[in-house]
Formats: sequence, structure tokens, C-alpha cells
Amino acid sequence: MTTTSTGIRVAAVGDIPEGEALTVTAERTGHDGPISVFHDDSGDFFALDDTCSHGQASLADGWIEGGQVECPLHSGKFCLRTGKPQSMPVTEPVRAHRLEIRDGEIWLYAGEEAAG
Ligand code: FES
Repeated sequence: MTTTSTGIRVAAVGDIPEGEALTVTAERTGHDGPISVFHDDSGDFFALDDTCSHGQASLADGWIEGGQVECPLHSGKFCLRTGKPQSMPVTEPVRAHRLEIRDGEIWLYAGEEAAG
């Protein structure tokens, strides 16, 4: 990973298989918690706070499909695009962060609102 003033290079597009996620540590992003980059089965990439808003679970370990990630602990779901809760027991959103794909590489803008 490389950090520049314009963002953090997380990985090359081919480094994160569909249905998988890659977590960037808080030390790396300067954010207040880890952020994960999710590769949805639509082929799109999204970035959300990695820690579930319901408990201490890593969303990167969850099930990624259909524009949603399902928490591995109690199966609450979040919208990958917005971070909004989609099913109980989650009621609070997680933050969505802006990503850009440039020249086959994924760039994360931690703390910048994702379009959508
Ligand atoms: Fe994620 Fe409970 S910790 S749904």
C-alpha cells in the first residue's frame, strides 16, 4: 500500500477476489478504526468502516453479496454503497468512504463521503 495526499492505494483490482474484502488498519488510514474494501458480486468495490455498529465483529469476515454485507456475528446486513442498516439487529449505519479505481488500482479516501 502507498499513501499520498490524494488517498491510499489499497491494492490492485485483481488482488481482491469477488465476494472478498481487504481491511486497511486505522494506523494506515489515520481514521478512528479499520476500513474494509469489499468486492461485491456485481463487480463493484465499496469501502465501509470494518467494525459492525452492533458489536465487535469485522464486516470483512462477513458474507458479501447483492450490494450488501452480512455481519458474521448476528447476521445483520449493511448496504455496501451507503453503510445503512438493511436488517435487524443492526439499527445504526457504518460509515461509507470514497473509493476510486484508477489504472486498475483501488484508492481509498478515508473520511470522505462515498458517492451514493
Ligand atoms: Fe454485527 Fe451483531 S455484531 S450484527
